[in-house]
Order: sequence, then C-alpha cells, then structure tokens
Amino acid sequence: MKIPLFSEIELSSELKTEITMVQSDLEVEVCARRPTDESYFEFSSKGLTLVDHELGKLHLDFIEDRVNYSRQSHLGKNELIAKAVGLSRGVQRVFDATLGLAEDAWFFLRLRVPVVGCERSPVVYLLLKDAVRRARLVFPELPFHIHYADAKAVLRSHPDEFPVVYMDPMFPEKKKSALPRKEMRIFRKWVGDDGDITELFETAMEHATERVVVKRPNKAPDLADGVVHSFKGKTVRYDLYSPRREK
Ligand SMILES: C[S@@+](CC[C@H](N)C(=O)[O-])C[C@H]1O[C@@H](n2cnc3c(N)ncnc32)[C@H](O)[C@@H]1O
Repeated sequence: MKIPLFSEIELSSELKTEITMVQSDLEVEVCARRPTDESYFEFSSKGLTLVDHELGKLHLDFIEDRVNYSRQSHLGKNELIAKAVGLSRGVQRVFDATLGLAEDAWFFLRLRVPVVGCERSPVVYLLLKDAVRRARLVFPELPFHIHYADAKAVLRSHPDEFPVVYMDPMFPEKKKSALPRKEMRIFRKWVGDDGDITELFETAMEHATERVVVKRPNKAPDLADGVVHSFKGKTVRYDLYSPRREK
C-alpha cells in the first residue's frame, strides 16, 4: 500500500525512523503539493494527521484532546476498566494487545501504570508514535512502549513478561447502528475488522500470568467460555479471564 505525505516543514527525525519501520507494509511517499483527490498524511508543527479524502481528518493528541483522552468524569481506579485489569491490586503494568487510538492505554498511563502495547496497522502505528513523541515533550518519562507488531508474536516471544493482557478487538459493524463518531469511521475504514480475535485470545490465555481482560460491546456474546467476572457498563463490558499459566 502507498500513501503520500505532504509537509511544509522538515519531518521530525523520529517520524523518518518510524516510516522506515513500516516500509515493508506501507510506502510513504513525500510529495511537494497537498494532494487533492486522494488520502494522505500531513505533517505540520502540530504533528502527523491522516487526511482521508472522503471522511476527514484523524489526528491523535493525548494532551490537548480532552474529549477522548482526559475526560474529567473518569473516576480513576473506580472505573470499571481499572477494576477489570486490577489496578487497585497494584498491577505493575498492562500489556495492551490492541492499541488502536490508545484511549484505553492513555487511561492506564494517567493512573501512572506503565503500558506496553501493540499496533499492527502501519497507518495507526505512525499516528500513535507521533502522538507519543509530542506527549513526551510534556511528560518526558512517559512509560509507554509501542511495538509495531502482531501482539500474538510479541506475547510468544516474551513468555511470562506480561501479568495482565488487555484486548479490545474491532467488533463487526452493525448495518443499522447509529453513525459512529468521525474518528471511528475513519479508523474502521483504514483498519478493517480483526479476523483473528480467537487466536489472539488463546495466545493471551497461554502467556499472561495473572489476568486476561476482553472489552466487548454489551450485546456481544462472550468471546470464549470461562468468564470469571464481567464488569458491566452502559454500553460495554470488561470480561475477566484467568490465564492458563496463572501462578
Ligand atoms: C478497537 S481498536 C482498539 C481501540 C483501543 N482500545 C482504544 O482505546 O483506542 C483495535 C486495534 O487493535 C489492532 N489490533 C487488532 N488485533 C491486533 C493484533 N493481533 N496485534 C496488534 N494489533 C492488533 C487493530 O489494528 C486496531 O487498531
């Protein structure tokens, strides 16, 4: 796959490195003019943005975007997601197998829980890494490590390293559902469905040592038998499983 990149300023050295990381899956071609009839990346002093020529812009900003990343209504460790991953029990770090826009990962980071995570979409990975670069200008020690990889491979190559595995795979879109917010529409177009959820779950169950947490829409069936406890919210729930390697 190819995508143009337009920039009026010099690319950051970090972005150049990340473009090299994904080049076997995504060819990013720097162009001299802003494209008019196709989707492209734009780099500016605000960072990297995906401009989808049909749906609009996707830009991640952990610091300034208070709606998606810093909702004041979040109650910290009393949130269902926090309970599900066991934050009040002193979990040391979370492995987020499906980073996506990293809204969940950012929630853990705000509670000072280090996150190691994976994103396998090259487009989403580049947006994420650039957002982390900018966040580190404010929080230089941000404990957020992102692999450009399939989480199954990372889990297999780091056995016993991740007590808690969190996963939030794409759920197939329902035709009649209300139009989701713009970010989600762009996101879904570029990422598609996750067809290997069961395999990822099985890998997590083999390699996590304390808990596996699966986020699901409330109406969706359980991903697998064996839910130990379900933390139910208004629209989503967090299903807790005991991994096979529990110690
Ligand atoms: C629904 S989104 C996750 C949203 C995320 N929880 C958030 O708060 O923004 C799922 C993401 O996981 C990624 N993904 C799915 N399966 C994966 C895997 N096996 N390895 C790495 N990334 C994966 C997809 O590319 C997609 O970006």
